[in-house]
Amino acid sequence: MTTPIKNDLFLRACRGEKTERPPVWIMRQAGRYMPEYQEIRKETSFLGLCKTPDLAARATMLPIDMLGVDAAILFSDILIPVEAMGLELRFSEHKGPSFPNPVRTREDLGRLLVPDPVASTGFVAEAIRGINRRLDGRVPLIGFSGAPFTLATYMVEGEISKDFSRVKRMMFSDPELLHDLLDRITDTVIRYLSMQLETGIHAYQIFDTWAGSLAPSHYRTFALPYVRRIVDALRKYGVPSILYVNGSCSLLEEMVSAGTDVISVDWRLSLSKVRERVPESRAIQGNLDPVSLLGRPEILREEVRLILDEMKDRPGYIFNLGHGILPETPVPMAKYLVQLIQSGLSAPMPKG
Ligand code: CP3
Repeated sequence: MTTPIKNDLFLRACRGEKTERPPVWIMRQAGRYMPEYQEIRKETSFLGLCKTPDLAARATMLPIDMLGVDAAILFSDILIPVEAMGLELRFSEHKGPSFPNPVRTREDLGRLLVPDPVASTGFVAEAIRGINRRLDGRVPLIGFSGAPFTLATYMVEGEISKDFSRVKRMMFSDPELLHDLLDRITDTVIRYLSMQLETGIHAYQIFDTWAGSLAPSHYRTFALPYVRRIVDALRKYGVPSILYVNGSCSLLEEMVSAGTDVISVDWRLSLSKVRERVPESRAIQGNLDPVSLLGRPEILREEVRLILDEMKDRPGYIFNLGHGILPETPVPMAKYLVQLIQSGLSAPMPKG
C-alpha cells in the first residue's frame, strides 16, 4: 500500500503541470550548515551516517521539519554504490571523498563488480522505508544516483579534481577502457535506482555534476548515452526523473535528449533563456546561486523575485539552487528562502 501524498506540488510540477506556486526544495538540504545535522554527525562518521538507516532517516527529515520544503531527498551520497562495486572509499573532513585505489587500467576495471543492490546497499532501502514512515505522505521523497560520467571522474581521479585531467586523459588515450567502465557503472546505477524505486521513492534525480566540464561532442559520447540508458530502463516505473548538470548551459539540448521529465540547471543562464531552449514538455528546476544565501536578506529577496518573475505563470517549474547549499549558510537565510517562495515574496525578513 502506498500512502497518498498530501503536498504533491513538486510531483505536479515535475509532470509539467501548472501549480498555485512553485514547489521548493534545496540541493544538499540536509547538511553541515544545520546544527541539528552536526548533532547527528557526532554519533558517527559521514559514511556511518549513510549506512545507519535510522540516522539517515533522521537527517532526511531535518529540512522537512525545520525549513518546510516541499520535497524530501534521501540522505546518502552518490559514491555509496561505487564502494559497493568494490572500490574502497574514504571521507576526510578536509579533503572530502577519496578512493585510495583508483581505476586506471583494465586490471583495475576487472576487479570491479556489478553489485547486488539489496545485498550490498540494503541500508539505503531500509532508510527509504524509515523515511516514508516518518513522512507519512506529507511531501514526496526524492531518490538519487550519480550519473556514470560523474561517478567515473571520482573513480579514475581518486579524489576531488579541478581539471579532471586523468579521466580526460583516459578519454583521449584509451576510450574503450572508459566506455567499459561507464558501461559497468551504468548497470550498477540501473540496479541501484531500481531498488530505490521498488522501495518507494516518488521521483529520482541523476546528478551528472561534472559533465559540464566536457566539450559537447564528448558529452554526447561519454555522458549522454549512459544517462539515456538509465532513464529508458527506469521509465517502466512511471516515476518523474530529473537530470542535473553543473555547467549545463552549453549542453541544454543534449540534456533534453537524455529523456528526463525535469532539467535541473545552474545559475549561469537565466531561466527565461533556459525555457526557450527546453521544450514545454519538460519541467525546469533551479537556479539560484547558493552564495546568495550568504549575503543580505533584502538582496536575496530581489534575486528570488527575478527568478519568480521569469517563471511566473509558466507550468512545470521547481525552485531550487543551482548547486548544493554551502556549509557556511546561516539557517535563518535558508528558512527565509523557502518562506519567500511559499509566501509569494511576503515573508518577514530574518533579524540580525
Ligand atoms: O541533497 C541532500 O541533502 C541529500 C544528500 C546528498 C549528499 N551528497 C550528502 C553529503 C546528496 C544528494 C549528495 C550528492 C553528491 N555527493 C554529489 C552530487 C551533487 C553535488 O553536490 O555536486 C557529489 C559530487 C557528491 C560527492 C561528495 N560528497 C563530495 C564532493 C563531498 C565533500 C564536499 C562536501 O560538500 O562536503 C561529499 C560529502 C557529503 N555529502 C556531505 C553531505 C551532507 C558532507 C559530509 C559531512 O558530514 O562531513
